[in-house]
Amino acid sequence: MSLAPVDPARAVRRAARLRGELRLPSDKSVAHRALIANALAGGPAEIRLRTPGRDVLSTARCLRALGVGVDEQDGVRGVARWTVVGVPDRTDGTLDCGNSGTTMRLLAGALAGLPLRATLDGDASLRARPMDRVAAPLRAMGASLTTRHGRAPLLIEGAARLRALEHRLPVASAQLIGAVALAALAAEGRTLIHAPGSTRDHTERLLAWMGAPISRHGDVTAIDGPARLRPRSLTVPGDPSAAVPWLVAAAVHPDAELLLTGVGLNPSRLAAVGVLREMGARIELSQGPAAGPEPSGDIAVASGSRLRPISLGGAQVAALVDELPVLAVAMAAADGVSELRDAGELRVKESDRIAATVAGLAAIGARVEELPDGWRVSPGAATDAEIATGGDHRIAIAFAIAGLSGVAGEVRLDDPACVSVSYPTFWQHLAAVSGEAA
Ligand code: S3P
Repeated sequence: MSLAPVDPARAVRRAARLRGELRLPSDKSVAHRALIANALAGGPAEIRLRTPGRDVLSTARCLRALGVGVDEQDGVRGVARWTVVGVPDRTDGTLDCGNSGTTMRLLAGALAGLPLRATLDGDASLRARPMDRVAAPLRAMGASLTTRHGRAPLLIEGAARLRALEHRLPVASAQLIGAVALAALAAEGRTLIHAPGSTRDHTERLLAWMGAPISRHGDVTAIDGPARLRPRSLTVPGDPSAAVPWLVAAAVHPDAELLLTGVGLNPSRLAAVGVLREMGARIELSQGPAAGPEPSGDIAVASGSRLRPISLGGAQVAALVDELPVLAVAMAAADGVSELRDAGELRVKESDRIAATVAGLAAIGARVEELPDGWRVSPGAATDAEIATGGDHRIAIAFAIAGLSGVAGEVRLDDPACVSVSYPTFWQHLAAVSGEAA
């Protein structure tokens, strides 16, 4: 498949048919953790990554500023090989986390257990996001953290030995579990993290695979510290959150057959597949041979009959958090009224994703009502639309899929380049599956 540059400034319109096989970028959740945990282990380790996005580059940049060697070599068939060597042992000015909340929160946890002083900062979107929820438990463990009214920049002074903690998270967030778990590696005794709902379990899988005594039972993560990690090389599978837009496109489009290969199939990331199947989508998963801490395999999707409407809410929402904007596009194509509740957390993502999704749905002609914690939506007349992405990659991708699948008329995005935060090859993949020369 050609990965020549495409002009994303052009309008996205409904493709005559959707066909093709895609290799998605490596899962950024796993990539951030693999880089940071191997740096804490001191390396050497080789992390193999396909087309990492800007968020993963932010983590690498911050680790380099902390004195860790993160060197990139070209690998085979589009997979770069990154070697990680050395522990974080100095700080080189402010660490720029860019747009990446995961970088900032995970690094805060890692730095809490190191005798260093560092400032974590980011772009305007990241500076607007809540950081008190990560600062509070890390302070209780003995690190010093100063925020600006609960937001970045975040000044951290870590300590080589922390106190273990039993902590109840205010929100079900894998970033917070990851931060507290990384700090707990430097704490004396058992740290228990209670989450009010189920989230992705990449931290637990990776740290256990690297030799740490960590486990999750129900929604409680336990770590016995202090613990050392063994460096381990790994290939990071494709990002399931980058798969879901194609699943929505194919489920909605009348003539589609797509195959996504080498995708992460961790069950804690497949909630959106379950939702789309419940709506009637035809999706097949085939698991590949086990390698590393994460299962992976292929996902096939084909057009089916008209989707059924769905109501989402309660505990299921945390596991769908990144997919909700694109699931809104599926809802806007379904045969009736769909609803999302209990998703207030979407308001503090890279943008206010409730406001941005609702505005986008209204612009493409759907009937939509904004709720404090979600939306209610049913189909309308598919109209041409200019979409305000707010610089948010998930919003850009969701509404490009609305245009591609015909839920909207022609779609233009104000900032098509923002997809590179998680999915640098998105526009090439969109051209390829539409049968356009890229
Ligand atoms: C992530 C967790 C999620 C998700 C983000 C990545 C992670 O955030 O939205 O894109 O890698 O831990 P929350 O933990 O804040 O829900």
